[in-house]
Amino acid sequence: MDEIKMLEEVESNAAHDLEEVKDLNELQQKKALYLGKKGPLASIMASMKNLTVEAKKELGMRTNKIKASLEAKFEAKRKQIEDMIVNKKLESETIDVTLPGYKLPTGGIHPLNQTVMELEDLYIGMGYTVAEGPEIETDEFCFEKLNLPKGHPARDMQDTFYINPELLLRSQTSPVQVRTMLKENGKPIKIICPGKVYRRDADDATHSHQFMQCEGLVLGKNITMADLKGALLEMVKKMFDEDRKIRLRPSFFPFTEPSVEVDVSCGICGGKGCPTCKNTGWIEILGAGMVNDNVLRMSGYDPKEIQGFAFGIGVERITMLKHKIDDIRNFYTNDLRFLNQFKEEK
Ligand code: PHE
Repeated sequence: MDEIKMLEEVESNAAHDLEEVKDLNELQQKKALYLGKKGPLASIMASMKNLTVEAKKELGMRTNKIKASLEAKFEAKRKQIEDMIVNKKLESETIDVTLPGYKLPTGGIHPLNQTVMELEDLYIGMGYTVAEGPEIETDEFCFEKLNLPKGHPARDMQDTFYINPELLLRSQTSPVQVRTMLKENGKPIKIICPGKVYRRDADDATHSHQFMQCEGLVLGKNITMADLKGALLEMVKKMFDEDRKIRLRPSFFPFTEPSVEVDVSCGICGGKGCPTCKNTGWIEILGAGMVNDNVLRMSGYDPKEIQGFAFGIGVERITMLKHKIDDIRNFYTNDLRFLNQFKEEK
């Protein structure tokens, strides 16, 4: 019988084809080819109608047997391919849990913030607390209540960015003194106030339109200039080294009387004179003085009862001297080659 031969051929061709199959797509195609409605088995079945009953029975049985066996083979192949896919995926996902972890890159604390943190640490150690105020300040707190009424010529000392006639970017941290006095309402005060300040300066190696100050204010009974000198000398010794000296020169600030500018002995030449200290042996680091009676009165303090001192440290100045940095712009250009030098390795 030709049909029997055909069946045998189909079976052996299918088995052979199945061996070559590599993925599920191909498998699907081959299955349709051999077992589908238009496949050879279907057409053999269709051709049976002209055969004798006997022959029909015989061929039908054989065809069904081969169909079942092919279906089982296709199913086995499908399982095999699927297992292979899963195994491949598992293999690619293996991890070696004994490998050391990656070291994540970390940032560092900006050198100016490091200085502020050191200042905070050492003044907190002397009993001060840290106060803060807004960078957008009122003319009243930044100037008027600091004894600088509108039109006062000393306002020219600080080229100010005005937002409107009453609001400005604070040109100094001194308004935080005012805010604290108004809050404490006659009570003793011992604070430092670090923060950013702004001035309408052209940027160059020693000027920046944005920089940082650390204000200090101490008010209490019988506070004198000797206390001021002590508070500053202690800071200089801790920030630089124990051998440093300070020098107080008479100066003028509207909010202090008397006022001083404070110099530190030059750390490069030890006070003998060199280019850094312009041959004077001294370098200016801050302004200070005894709080002016008018300032006390304007914020609710009686100068007969309570006196005190204030100082304003230039944070950039101190940081530049400490690390021998010669251009203030380095702090604000965020060049990682510069900043990485101040990173503490953990
Ligand atoms: N605010 C002053 C300045 O910016 C510094 C200063 C502070 C002086 C406190 C005296 C007392 O120049």
